[in-house]
Amino acid sequence: MTTELSDIETKLASLRQAATDAIASVDSLEGLEELRVSYLGKKGQISKILGGMGKLDPADRPRLGAAANEVKVALQSQLDSKREALQQAQIQAQLEAETLDVTMPGVYHRLGRLHPLNSTFDQVIDIFVGLGYTVAVGPEMETDYYNFEALNTPPDHPARDMQDTFYLPDGNLLRTHTSSVQIRYMEDNEPPVRIVAPGRCYRRDTVDATHAAVFHQMELLAVDEGLTFTDLKGTIAEFIHQIFGDVKIRFRASYFPFTEPSAEVDVEWKGRWLEVLGCGMVDPNVLKAVGYDPEVYTGFAAGFGIERFAMVLHQIDDIRRFYSSDLRFLQQF
Ligand code: DAH
Repeated sequence: MTTELSDIETKLASLRQAATDAIASVDSLEGLEELRVSYLGKKGQISKILGGMGKLDPADRPRLGAAANEVKVALQSQLDSKREALQQAQIQAQLEAETLDVTMPGVYHRLGRLHPLNSTFDQVIDIFVGLGYTVAVGPEMETDYYNFEALNTPPDHPARDMQDTFYLPDGNLLRTHTSSVQIRYMEDNEPPVRIVAPGRCYRRDTVDATHAAVFHQMELLAVDEGLTFTDLKGTIAEFIHQIFGDVKIRFRASYFPFTEPSAEVDVEWKGRWLEVLGCGMVDPNVLKAVGYDPEVYTGFAAGFGIERFAMVLHQIDDIRRFYSSDLRFLQQF
């Protein structure tokens, strides 16, 4: 063995000892990484020692190579287990720092609730879904055609006066009722039809306890072969009994351009007759407008004022309360 070799081996041994001590005492992952670079890195101390190999007798080189490799492997494994230990300690420290006291009182969040108009809609829709109807919708901005003309209400028709309309500068209008959805739905679908169409409507009404410029309706439409007024009556009676319980109902002859015959339905409520909806057999002209053959199909329709139902269900005396956003009012529901 040459002196150079034993020199280098001594250096290697003391380097191993120094590295082992340093790894044992380092207390951060950054520090550990620095040690790794310093000992095992490309330009690290072991590489430097091996750099001196050139001076060695070629016969001694394999022996030094093996010794250096053993040191590398040993240090790498020390580094690995130290890294693992430091990471565990870090997680542990974090867990301890973030301890939750589950016995502390929580932060109270007030629960929101459904607006009474929305819960009334839900109730009404649920009943009709139970009777086999599906929900349809249409736009709030309408054309004269869908809101009036196709509903058998031509421009000079006196019934237009019943519904003071908001016209828009472009000639469109804000729908005065959800009946427009009847036309849109029938244009896109073939009979049989069973739909309810909930939505917002607009009228230039003077606002008072029972009238609002913006209000809500739900339209009902059924078209099929052989539907009669009896089907209409049965459907409406079933609905009224589901929503109001065992009350007296009265069908009163009325007039709407899009139904013939037409009726209004009153419910006996607290000793008085209360009007809750309009309805009738779909006028043949309406069926013709959407390309249905009135010789084959008949239909019935109805329009429900949702505010009216909500007022009765919740004993609310003034329609304006629905739109006031007064929490004292809303929190009762
Ligand atoms: N569209 C009517 C209104 O707003 C309500 C109505 C009456 C709708 C009779 C109907 C119906 O579908 O058949 O006053």
